[in-house]
This record gives sequence, structure tokens and C-alpha cells, in this order.
Amino acid sequence: MPKTPDIKTLHIKTFGCQMNEYDSERMAEALEGLGYALVEEAADADLVILNTCHIREKAAEKVYSELGRMRLNKERRKREGRDTLIAVAGCVAQAEGAEIMARAPAVDIVVGPQSYHRLADLVTEATTTGHGLVATEFSAEDKFAHLPQRPQGKRQVSAFVTVQEGCDKFCTFCVVPYTRGAEFSRPVSEIVAEVERLAGRGAREITLLGQNVNAYHGVGPDGRTWTLARLLRRLAQIPQIDRLRFTTSHPLDMDDELIALFGDEKKLMPYLHLPFQAGSDRILKAMNRRHTIAEYEAVIARVRAARPDIALSTDIIVGFPGETDEDFAATLALAARARFAQAFTFKYSARLGTPAASREQQVPEQVKRERLYALQSLIEDQRRAFDRAMVGRRLDVLFEGRGRKPGQIAGRSPYLQAVHVEGLEGLIGQIAAVDILAASPNSLTGVIKSGFEWHEPVQAAV
Ligand code: 5AD
Ligand code: SF4
Repeated sequence: MPKTPDIKTLHIKTFGCQMNEYDSERMAEALEGLGYALVEEAADADLVILNTCHIREKAAEKVYSELGRMRLNKERRKREGRDTLIAVAGCVAQAEGAEIMARAPAVDIVVGPQSYHRLADLVTEATTTGHGLVATEFSAEDKFAHLPQRPQGKRQVSAFVTVQEGCDKFCTFCVVPYTRGAEFSRPVSEIVAEVERLAGRGAREITLLGQNVNAYHGVGPDGRTWTLARLLRRLAQIPQIDRLRFTTSHPLDMDDELIALFGDEKKLMPYLHLPFQAGSDRILKAMNRRHTIAEYEAVIARVRAARPDIALSTDIIVGFPGETDEDFAATLALAARARFAQAFTFKYSARLGTPAASREQQVPEQVKRERLYALQSLIEDQRRAFDRAMVGRRLDVLFEGRGRKPGQIAGRSPYLQAVHVEGLEGLIGQIAAVDILAASPNSLTGVIKSGFEWHEPVQAAV
């Protein structure tokens, strides 16, 4: 079968966090210049990128089994006369490096999270030379300076923008300082320009991303170092942007200015993701979190004083090495006191190269499972209670797309809950007041406040 070099297709499979989603979009944009267009199916793609995550358990093994499937696909396409490039990106690429090429020779490119700006060159080189290439050097600064400026991309009502990357905190369980490198903050002007471009394409909500986003300290247009609060105030001045969010924060970096902003800035949504990881001071110390439980609770009390209705979200790890029944009971007690609207719970899993991985007193799997189960049921009760408390209230909903059922549209409340209503697709991209009628396990349903008028019907933006 003859080759058709002019049509090049790209499939990106993304695992893990929102930052990986953002990175995948940027990689797709970087490859547009080479003529690559995104396709849904990996089997149809000339270039397949696996954007990996190292946080979850057995991440590397999962990548290798995925690569096994991809190799078979590559061989099948080869028999059909078509070439396939396979690239591994993300944190597993960074952590494993050349090891990936050695174990999975079908892979053509290994590219770490700080080297995506080199992707187009790597793809060209791999295509022309047929050699495997590994790029895992660290320089977030270079990356952001050299990625294309999101010229086309897809239109999104709610968009993510990475403003900070990497971490200097070195929690003893975490690979991020090793895979994403030292903390780096993008300059204010670069972020403002990116948000303005997204706003011009229909974005109404922006979520600022960073592994330690509230440690943001980027250089401002005045040459001074700006805080996250100052950056948020600047972005709030962009007229088309109605909603701002940020994630993930560290309790140590929740300064007064940022806390006050929850009360002062209407565009900053009442939602804060603030991991506490463990409920006992002893375990927090072993995790090198550098704060106590009392300090964490003092922070959330201050946040609630500034914005009483705030939805709090968190990350919690169970079964960190040395965690006793008593320590775990303290985790449950803290979760019960804090009344989270949302929480992400994890069983501790050892990450090669992190200090906690080599500690004795690893907690047996069965114990971890039981603790996770107990914690999840408490968290689920809290989440449902938070959602039920919305019934009878009127919430502003930003509509982002079609709902599950025909005739439905779906959006998000200020508290990040999914909300479904019967409504016209022309409302997508707009904010409307919705009277909440019911709370089901994963979303709210309601009706658009009668008398809501929308001007300027817009096409579905997503
Ligand atoms: N084991 C379990 N959970 C982890 N997390 C990070 N590293 C590990 C690990 N080794 C969790 C933390 C973090 C979230 C993104 O993932 O709770 O906040
Ligand atoms: Fe990892 Fe977050 Fe700790 Fe940084 S602050 S080391 S990203 S858990």
C-alpha cells in the first residue's frame, strides 16, 4: 500500500493530573506545525504519545504493558505498509529515561515534562534517522519560552493554564521534585498573554495549575516578584474571564493576601484544594510536610472566615510507613472536623528513590485497604451532605457542554459540582442562575431561573 506522507495523524493517551492534560494539549499544538492532526483511535495514528503519570501505584508497569499493546499495533501497521512512531512523555518518561528504550525497543522517543518544546524536532529527527531519542533534561524556563503560543487549539469554556511547575518541598513520599524538577514560576506577562488568547477563543473560566501553585513567585511586568494573589488580581481584570481557580496548594504557602482574596475577589471561585495528607503530627513530620495539624486547621479556619461558604477539597494518604491505628484514627478525626466537599484518597505506595520507600515499618496491604475503605466512606458521606445542602439554592452555573441525556446541558457550580439542566445548547459558554432541585451521587440537577435571557446566541464552543 502506498504511503500518504501528507496526512499525519496523532493520538495522545493522557494519564494522571490536569497538568498532564494541559501538557498534552500543548504537545498537540507543538506538532500542528509538522502537520499532525489529532485522532481518537491509537490504531489510526502515525504518532502515538503516551503521556504518563508516576503518582499512581505501579505506574511504570502499567506503561510497559500499554507499550506492549502499542508494539503489536506498530507491527500490524508495518505489515500494512505504514510507519508508526511511539513516544513516551510525562513523569514516567522522566523517571525511567533510557531504561524505557532498553525494555521497550518499539519506543522511538522518550521525552520528559521539561522538554516538550523539543518534541517537534525530536519527531523530525526520529522520522528521518530512525534512531531512538531520549530528552529528559530539566529546564521549565526553556520549555515555556519555546512552546508555541496556543494559536489554534480547541475552544474551551473552561481552560487550564500552567503557571508554576516543579516543587522544592520534598515530601518523603513524592516523586514530583525528581520528575518535574525544581520550582519554577512563569513570568506574569506570559501568563496574561496566554489567558487573553484563551479568552479571545471563548474561555470564561481559567484554572491556574502548579504542583505547588500558591508558592508562585513569577516576575511581574514591573520587574518585581509577584505572588499568586497578585497574579489572580491581574487576571481578574480581563473582562471575558468570569471565574478563576487554582490548584494544588500547600498549607505552608497559604499567605494572608491569598486568603483575603477569597473574600475580596468575586471572580475567585469559592473552592480550595488543600492537601493535608495525614492527620497525625508524627506522620506529618515523617512525611516532611513541615506543618502540624493545628497549623493546617488554623489555615482552613482563616479561609472560612474570609469565605464562609468555601468548598474545601484535599488529598489524604493512608498507610504511610509507621502509620498506627491511632495515627489513622487522627486522620479520620481531622477529616470529620474539616467537612470536605471533595477529597482524593490514596493508599501509600513506595516510589523508588523517595526517602519513605526505604523505610522499615511498611504497612501491610490489607491494613491499607481497610483504612482506605473507612476513610472513603466518611469522605463520601461528607461530599453527599455538601451536595444535598445545595438543593433549594440558586447557583450560578457556567455551561461547558452537552449533558448526559438529549436536551440536557451541563456545567459547573462555583463549588465545582457538575450541574445538569434541560436547556438550549446556545447557553454553552454562558453563566446562568440555576435553581437546584436534586442531588444525585455525582451531580446536581436544576432548572434555569425563569426569565433568564441570553443575548447573542453563540455556537457550542466545545
Ligand atoms: N503514595 C500514595 N499517594 C501519593 N501521592 C503522592 N505520592 C504518593 C505516594 N507515593 C498523593 C498525594 C498527592 C497526590 C497528588 O497524590 O496525596 O497530594
Ligand atoms: Fe510532592 Fe506536593 Fe510534597 Fe511537592 S508539596 S513534594 S508536589 S506532595
